Amino acid sequence: MTGNLKALLDGPFTDKELTIVTNRQPYVYKKTHSGIKEERTAGGLATALDDVMKAVGGTWVAWGSGNADRAVVDEDNIVLVPHDNPSYRLKLVWLNDVEAENYYHGFSNQVLWPLCHIALERVYFRKRFWEHYKRVNRIFSEAVVNVTSKDSIVWIHDYHLCLLPSLLREEMPELTIAHFWHIPWPDWSVFRVCPHAKELIEGLLGNDLLCFQIPLFVKNFIDCVRETTNAEIDYHHQTITYKNHITQVKAFPISIDYEKFNSIASSRKVQKIINKIRDSYDINSKYIAVGVDRLEYTKALIKRLQALDLFFEKYRRLRKDLTYIQISTATRLREPYLSYKKTVEKLISEINNRYGTDDWTPILYIDKKLDISELVAFYRMADLAIISSIYDGMNLVAKEFVASQVDNRGVLILSELAGAADELTGALLINPYDIEGFAETIHRSLVMPDDEKQSRIHQLRQQVRDNDVYRWITDILSEVATISTMKNKECVYLFNILDELISDIKSKNTFLFLDYDGTLTPIVSTPDRAILSREMRELLKELTKHYPVAIITGRSLSNIKELVGIEEILYAGNHGAEIWDGEKEIISHEVESCRHALKEFIERLEKEMGDIRGIQIEDKGATASIHYRNVPVKELGRLISTFKRISKDYETLFRITHGKKVFEIRPLNSWHKGDAVLWLLERFDHNSYPIYVGDDTTDEDAFMAIAGRGISIGVGYNCKADYYIKEQSEVKAFLEKLIK
Ligand code: UDP
Ligand code: G6P
Repeated sequence: MTGNLKALLDGPFTDKELTIVTNRQPYVYKKTHSGIKEERTAGGLATALDDVMKAVGGTWVAWGSGNADRAVVDEDNIVLVPHDNPSYRLKLVWLNDVEAENYYHGFSNQVLWPLCHIALERVYFRKRFWEHYKRVNRIFSEAVVNVTSKDSIVWIHDYHLCLLPSLLREEMPELTIAHFWHIPWPDWSVFRVCPHAKELIEGLLGNDLLCFQIPLFVKNFIDCVRETTNAEIDYHHQTITYKNHITQVKAFPISIDYEKFNSIASSRKVQKIINKIRDSYDINSKYIAVGVDRLEYTKALIKRLQALDLFFEKYRRLRKDLTYIQISTATRLREPYLSYKKTVEKLISEINNRYGTDDWTPILYIDKKLDISELVAFYRMADLAIISSIYDGMNLVAKEFVASQVDNRGVLILSELAGAADELTGALLINPYDIEGFAETIHRSLVMPDDEKQSRIHQLRQQVRDNDVYRWITDILSEVATISTMKNKECVYLFNILDELISDIKSKNTFLFLDYDGTLTPIVSTPDRAILSREMRELLKELTKHYPVAIITGRSLSNIKELVGIEEILYAGNHGAEIWDGEKEIISHEVESCRHALKEFIERLEKEMGDIRGIQIEDKGATASIHYRNVPVKELGRLISTFKRISKDYETLFRITHGKKVFEIRPLNSWHKGDAVLWLLERFDHNSYPIYVGDDTTDEDAFMAIAGRGISIGVGYNCKADYYIKEQSEVKAFLEKLIK
């Protein structure tokens, strides 16, 4: 598979270095009697990412927690891995016991982990946890800065490193940073419990790409951003602009190496292991159920055992037909994990004492680390796998079980609260809190007709095969590579090169195009308050003596002409659909044919959303704008979902875009701002040199239209323009320079 992966990644990564950053290291070094041993970290993710690194090379930065790690690294704390086929660099960072205790066992595992899994009772916050969390994130940042150049792509993983993206961004602004959040992201009513919610979110907004497992977590995150910051959020494209930086947020459900599990499960070795297991554990029951989990409270092992208990109690006749095998490895060896382990073990022995007989043990408990072939043997011999998480980012065990069902017969019982439930539609879903329903589902899975079992598992296998971990990796890395290419497109701060540009502009036949709201006037709470200042009006008048000037706006033509009122200026309104060429109005053909539909669209919006406080539905004849700058935060959810629902019915007629706290509705093929600019250039002087200044998404059409022909200037960082200025107030300084 490594070969395929390399082929897939070769394109995006030919000239970029990849750095992966995780808390857990992919290889750990341990002292043994026979010397130092290199061990690969268990788990699907480490394996998949290890394959990526083997294919593309680069550096992996992680906490060195093995007792022989220091003995294998060089003076830069780097070791080439794996030992037998060195393919990439592993750079280890060292944490002392106090740091590890507070950052890892403390803030990561006692605050963020339970918080994100909505286990609020278990959230235990101490100030020192936070202090060390910040400190360790800085330690990671120094290590990453040490091994990367500005062209590198850094891919961070999980909740241990929330602050790392913005720390890196401060140090290396050009770096491309992506982050995968493996666990759930809860909604704001839960996340607000965290004493440092805002700092964590700001830390994550240093990323260029922030990935979650499923769309629900993306939505929850965006809601939390809205509650904690004044970021500009584009709900349609799922981008967040904060402190002049854009973060793309997106769902990429993680997966497993399907082929690997499938082929191990079909192997003779696994068949032999199955026979051995049956003999050594003396399993004679008709059905085998299996559960594979870290000994982790979010996996709800206690609820699972309660459901099994109820099943054994209720279905006496089927009782001895079922043996449940619980495979668990102890994890995070601190409280509450230690007590949880004891409770689980006690419950298992109580159930075994209650129902067990001389020739049947209801629950087998295996608490040792298994190698992959043994694990697959358990998956394959099982008639049923049970996953009962109270909340879970994805749950890879569900997918591993499916991929190991080479006989097409196993049934998957899956918690509807695990991310995997979004994709795995052939599973029997349970609510782990509903113990009766859970026990009934166990019963149903056993008595299910064979053909239903087959068709369900067939469907499941197809889902996992089509969406394996390599697809996940290539989807994410292609997105990252695109972002990285876009970032590297020069978008220079205008005032850094203004003097050079000015002489160029003056030597050319310049034609000046200006957007209105956010460019000539600051963004204000309602459109009617955007009044042109006296100074700006004078400046515009002066400019018309030197250059042809056009104002290109989303407002209606009549409105902009009235607002500006300077005769020497040309105007385009409704995002370019209406043009005033100084003598007459020219209107895009599409406008007329869509007028009726637009009216109906607006009426529906008014009917279903008109009562939302602060909403402004602006009918501008040819186009419409839905402003929501003044809508209270708690009404935004309703506004967005209603708008999305209604606008779906009009997608074939209208182009619907999202600007600064506004949705814009425009007839699909009517002229946009870029068309208006080209039309005016053609009409007046097709050899002239256009300069376009604009701040919003609809201005991007104009940026594109003049690309290579003139210069585009974005107000606020906008990588789609050639240059940017930091804020609206700088527009005046630029225009003044053009006159002087
Ligand atoms: N695993 C394992 N041995 C165990 C328990 C789990 O190797 O005793 C592996 C399992 O095969 C899977 C991973 O650990 O690849 C667990 O991933 P999952 O997404 O199910 O849960 P997480 O532990 O990440 O919360
Ligand atoms: C989950 C987390 C990972 C973590 C793993 C094991 O899968 O998302 O980041 O590595 O659990 O937990 P541990 O604390 O042992 O690394």
